Amino acid sequence: MRALRKPAPGPGLELQDIPEPTTGFREVKIRVLRTGLCGTDLHLAGWDDFAAAQLHPPMTLGHEFYGEIVEIGSGTATDESTADDDTDYLSIGQRVSVEGHITCGRCRNCRAGRRHMCIRTNSIGVNRDGAFADYVVVPARNVWPQADTIDPDLGALFDPFGNAVHTAMQFPPASEDVLITGAGPIGVMCAAIARHCGARNVVITDLSDYRLSLAEKVGVTTVNTGREDLRTVMHDLGMTEGFDVGLEMSGAPAATRQMIDVCNHGAKIAMLGLPKAGYEIDWNKVITHMLTIKGVYGREMYDTWYKGSFMLGSSERLRNEIRGLVTHRFAPEQWQDAFETARSGECGKVIINWEE
Ligand SMILES: NC(=O)c1ccc[n+]([C@@H]2O[C@H](COP(=O)([O-])OP(=O)(O)OC[C@H]3O[C@@H](n4cnc5c(N)ncnc54)[C@H](O)[C@@H]3O)[C@@H](O)[C@H]2O)c1
Ligand SMILES: [Zn+2]
Ligand SMILES: [Zn+2]
Repeated sequence: MRALRKPAPGPGLELQDIPEPTTGFREVKIRVLRTGLCGTDLHLAGWDDFAAAQLHPPMTLGHEFYGEIVEIGSGTATDESTADDDTDYLSIGQRVSVEGHITCGRCRNCRAGRRHMCIRTNSIGVNRDGAFADYVVVPARNVWPQADTIDPDLGALFDPFGNAVHTAMQFPPASEDVLITGAGPIGVMCAAIARHCGARNVVITDLSDYRLSLAEKVGVTTVNTGREDLRTVMHDLGMTEGFDVGLEMSGAPAATRQMIDVCNHGAKIAMLGLPKAGYEIDWNKVITHMLTIKGVYGREMYDTWYKGSFMLGSSERLRNEIRGLVTHRFAPEQWQDAFETARSGECGKVIINWEE
């Protein structure tokens, strides 16, 4: 099969021809239909400090994907009577997305049902072979069967869409003024979700007009803070105080500082964006304005998946908006163009189509 792999430590990837993987205990084999590219893949391909610490080549990358179950390993239930408390039953031909975080099941958080806070999380496409390949084998427990309303492109977005759902659901957005910093794919998804959930004003910032043009399509207020004054925009929207909820989706220190500056007293800020390094913020403001700042990682297993599926299932508009974030599609053989496009920033989600 074809597999996009990191053959050895160092920059670069190779599209190789390797044997198909086989299923072990409680694993399933999936024929991959679509795989999305994300920032993590760019870090791993380019080989920075994060990559060198996390990835032990040879390894197939790719963790945002959708496909079809083609083989079910031993120990996995295939009907109601054999299903147990570990996994629901699965069937050949089922269309699925996959939670990319594999948790230990035995640490305190896992045992308390807080698997997204597992202290021993492993990742598909980082610590074990991933889905930039015709086939991938994953734990049955990580499989999320999809409804027919979820097409392959949309199905491949469930990992970043789940990040957006997880972040946007930290603090109830209904009737609040919500500020989102960073109009990357996940920031724009957050904007669509906040609007869907009944926020009063949804304002999203970025420094890139291309990225803001993607956000405009989901019907929220866009601000290029490189040249526009956020406070003027707030005034024009009739906001007399500050934002009630902030969703930090850029990882940029300047964006976080600005968010703290324009939030109302008592505001709640959820942070998903990963900064390159530590940085200073105005702690006096955090303290005297009684701000709540909360880090957000991954997706809740599996409540985020239920929430995301139900949100998309009940709203064709939201489905179209999320799917609309796919701006580029490539065949596996064009993987270099795909990575180049993702690196340029002049894109929404970039997807590799394994049916080509
Ligand atoms: N915590 C997690 O589990 C998790 C999971 C996935 C992604 N992430 C992080 O979430 C963030 C969003 O992901 P993405 O794929 O949408 O990323 P992305 O890099 O595509 O988007 C980030 C956007 O922020 C913009 N930006 C940069 N400086 C800014 C500023 N000062 N003000 C406003 N916008 C600014 C960039 O132009 C870009 O459009 C990234 O930082 C990513 O690393 C975290
Ligand atoms: Zn990702
Ligand atoms: Zn654990």
